[in-house]
Amino acid sequence: MEKNIAVIWGDCASPEIVRQALRVLDKVAEKYGHTFHYIDTAMGGEAIDKYGDPLPQHELDKCLAADSVLLGAVGGPKWEGMPGDKRPEKGLLRLRAGMGLYSNSRPAKIWPQLAPASPLKPEIVAQGIDFIIVRELTGGVYFGEHRTDTLPSGEKQAVDLMPYSEHEIERIGRIGFETAQKRRKKLCCVDKANVLDTSRLWRAVMHRLQAEYPDVEYSEMFVDNCAMQIVKNPAQFDVIVTENMFGDILSDEASMITGSIGMIPSSSLGEGTRGLYEPIHGSAPDIAGKDVVNPTACILSAAMMLRYSFGMAAEADCIEAAVGKVLDAGLRTADNMSEGCTCLGCAAMGDAILQAMD
Ligand code: IPM
Ligand code: MG
Repeated sequence: MEKNIAVIWGDCASPEIVRQALRVLDKVAEKYGHTFHYIDTAMGGEAIDKYGDPLPQHELDKCLAADSVLLGAVGGPKWEGMPGDKRPEKGLLRLRAGMGLYSNSRPAKIWPQLAPASPLKPEIVAQGIDFIIVRELTGGVYFGEHRTDTLPSGEKQAVDLMPYSEHEIERIGRIGFETAQKRRKKLCCVDKANVLDTSRLWRAVMHRLQAEYPDVEYSEMFVDNCAMQIVKNPAQFDVIVTENMFGDILSDEASMITGSIGMIPSSSLGEGTRGLYEPIHGSAPDIAGKDVVNPTACILSAAMMLRYSFGMAAEADCIEAAVGKVLDAGLRTADNMSEGCTCLGCAAMGDAILQAMD
């Protein structure tokens, strides 16, 4: 197959991990007889520096014209003082909205080899950690009105609105149910229905959908309780469906219990097969340029792209198996290092994964 991939190199440590992911894709192309064309695309800090805009229309157009998009991570101290719409993160939000990617899947699955790196007690880890957070990605407080007013007293007041309409809830709710159907058939809707109207509307829509998916065991949980349950008894979860900001917060927590945020990929999809694939971690400015960042989440994001956007299951399996072999061999990066293992840099971890794909 021949595919066009828009590649967003990203900021700070991000180009280091994207480079390794492209080496892995090249290896897949060679091994399975595919051709991947990479289209360099600027978004985030790089685009601000080049064009004064975190996502100019011509760069968004490259993503819309591609078969899929691979991203490292954007942002960094250099752009921190910028006004809200000139920040790297704004480019990411506009990309998600511009591509219509309302459904973000973030797996929290522990690699058994990394159990010692989990901050949870071994007896909790032993029960298993394997769930997916399905996060609504183009609505809620991220995309509601943001405003800072000056009150008559001279004091400032800021407002961020959190709108959700029924169709936005229904389409992500369906993804939640369908994801559960392909797994252990348990779906938990996470919200704050004891306080928020948006959450009460979520529940009403989810109750309507529930009737269409009788094979799925459906439950509901308040987000504060969920944050607690994720560390107390993560084995209870199969699929969590939740709104944009709750999903942002819970997915960082969920990644950490698996041993390292440096291992977790994500997919963002909308109506078609074109998606955006990115690690859930940030651009790691503190370790940029040192060749110590873990490239695995980005490499696994490339694997997700092959599986979900290009229908290349064997190719994705090959990458994931290679990651498993590398962990079996006791090879680690600084973020998930444990006693008795060997700590590699970013490029050396890329080399090890490439070799394990043979
Ligand atoms: C994420 C990130 C982004 C988000 C930031 C960089 C805007 O934290 O993908 O989880 O909040 O969605
Ligand atoms: Mg986040």
